[in-house]
Amino acid sequence: MRLFHGSIFDTAGAQAAQVAHLGGLLIGVCVLVYLATLGFFFFAVWRARRRASGDGGADPSLSQPPPSDSRKAVWIATTLMASFGVLTLFVAASFMTDRRLVSASATPTVRIEVTAHQWWWEIRYLDPLPSRGFVTANELHLPLQETAAITLRSADVIHSFWIPSLAPKRDAIPAHDQSLHLTATRAGRWPGRCSEFCGYQHARMGLVAVVEPREQFDAWRSAQASSAKPAGTDLEKRGEQVFASRACVLCHVVRGSAATGYSATAPDLTHVASRARLAAETVPNETSSLRRWVRDPHSLKPGVRMPPNALPDEELDALVAWLGSLR
Ligand code: CUA
Repeated sequence: MRLFHGSIFDTAGAQAAQVAHLGGLLIGVCVLVYLATLGFFFFAVWRARRRASGDGGADPSLSQPPPSDSRKAVWIATTLMASFGVLTLFVAASFMTDRRLVSASATPTVRIEVTAHQWWWEIRYLDPLPSRGFVTANELHLPLQETAAITLRSADVIHSFWIPSLAPKRDAIPAHDQSLHLTATRAGRWPGRCSEFCGYQHARMGLVAVVEPREQFDAWRSAQASSAKPAGTDLEKRGEQVFASRACVLCHVVRGSAATGYSATAPDLTHVASRARLAAETVPNETSSLRRWVRDPHSLKPGVRMPPNALPDEELDALVAWLGSLR
């Protein structure tokens, strides 16, 4: 199963299962048609060779003259009708799948806004109590066996939101909100991609859906909704100072630090250390990659919107220590 992990053949969601059934039908019928066509082809070749060698053999039908025009017409009509029947079956099955996907599924228990940016995903969890809402990036946590209502938007160009194991693709179009439901049925980490070419770093615009049981999801959610923990060591305090006095603060938010506010241009970093990877699934979230990312993000992701930061080593050490403490 490792080979297919995270693909359309490794379904972990109700919506992906619908599409997988349709895919199975299409592939199955196409294989049958292919085998039947090959069978007829080889039979025709074999029969023509027997005729050419003038040897009817034991089979009297082979020594008969070629079929008449009316017999040919019957064959052509039959195959045309069969082709038409197969195509009609495909159209009907696709239509039914589409209907099932848009028809109301279970009542959503989580509401999330996903905004696609060049080249990362902003993920906003909504709550009736605004103080319990929060923003994160590139890691979409979902409760197991529940339905999440997603509002999908784009901040710049057309992207496409695709977590193959959970649901079919959906385009994120500027100024045209889309809504979709995700019902995750298997716990795990399911990789996602942007599947519409959206610029230089389209290939490094990954996300991951983390599907976990309700208790774990609630624990994650309340941790994310809280402010960043105060800097503990002197080094971390120095790091927070660097963050607030350098260019970082112009684009990034760390709730509970000096860098508060609202940012629609770069990921919220309040709990950046809790995420497994950096830069939209580009590199593992480790000290070495974080250092490299802060100093020269273009060496990892050329064209990224974040500028390089020529910080002295002392400041970089402190900054990375503080960011690494933001669990
Ligand atoms: Cu975003 Cu491709």
